[in-house]
Amino acid sequence: MKMSLKIRTITVAVALGICAVVPTHAEESTPVKVIIDADPGVDDAMAILFALQSPAVEVIGITTVFGNTAIDNATANALTLVDLVGASVPVARGAEHPLVKDLREPPAFVHGADGLGEVGLQKPVGKVIEKAAAQFIVDMARQYPGEITLVPVGPLTNIALALGIEPRLPQLIKEVVLMGGAARVEGNVSPVAEANIFGDPHAADIVFKTPWRVTMVGLDVTTRVRMEDDLLERIAKANPKLGEFIWSITRFYKKFYESRGVYGGFYVHDPSAIAYVIDPGLFETETARVRVVPEGLAEGQTITAIGTPPAFWTAWYQAPDVEVCLGVDAEAMLALYESTLSR
Ligand code: BDR
Ligand code: CA
Repeated sequence: MKMSLKIRTITVAVALGICAVVPTHAEESTPVKVIIDADPGVDDAMAILFALQSPAVEVIGITTVFGNTAIDNATANALTLVDLVGASVPVARGAEHPLVKDLREPPAFVHGADGLGEVGLQKPVGKVIEKAAAQFIVDMARQYPGEITLVPVGPLTNIALALGIEPRLPQLIKEVVLMGGAARVEGNVSPVAEANIFGDPHAADIVFKTPWRVTMVGLDVTTRVRMEDDLLERIAKANPKLGEFIWSITRFYKKFYESRGVYGGFYVHDPSAIAYVIDPGLFETETARVRVVPEGLAEGQTITAIGTPPAFWTAWYQAPDVEVCLGVDAEAMLALYESTLSR
């Protein structure tokens, strides 16, 4: 069904004769509890700071995964972000390689050798908790049943491992809002595959086959949002501590996009998933069934069947529904990022 969740919620309320205005997440008084599973990563860092600054979100933990950089760097970078904000948010180290396939060289040409744009960051002061990421996710889900939104913005290895530890995880988690995949657009690491899904296609297929509420915030929308320097300059003026940090780490990332012919701002991948959590009404979604190609030429492709497929498309017919983002109000999303980071 092609309509935003916010409009859909309000439509249902009107149909039922409910007169009260139904709040979006951003308007809810109780912040949404989230665990961000990330491979920071420049845009991961931008997403984590977005969530830490948003009054609509309560970050109850950050879990790390290999991907944009090696797990040691990703974990140190997550700790650096927590230090920067002065938040007391636990950071749990996660998977250092995919479930089945071999680990590949991280894309230092995108995020820098250290994952955060090679700006010479000091070692973080904070320490990781003594629990692996997957176990942390399970324990938090048991502690807050039905309350947690999982926001994976890297390869989905930790999420698949958590499902292996606790088969009831789908009932314990409120929803999953992930950055990854490409439904109707081309990939970014191959003509058909998006980087996070390609990073661990076996884990991704497990996540898409699990009957829980999943929203895929993929390249269909993230490549439609471009962040330009003037917005970052305004944030740096309003909030020098975070704004100047974001400005510095994004210089390397911006150059990478320019080297690929993307001018007029870099793509806003991971912050888009946080934007969805804060205000799903910014996005248009379709209900679909998604399966992932595990290997071969199309490795990491998210084959997306929109609507209910015919029964003889067995692999998709048997898969659960997933909400796939296909449209975004880019201007409003950028405005949300700016106002949140300027606080
Ligand atoms: C995704 O891949 C990584 O490079 C980014 O951090 C983002 O999560 C985009 O394809
Ligand atoms: Ca990422």
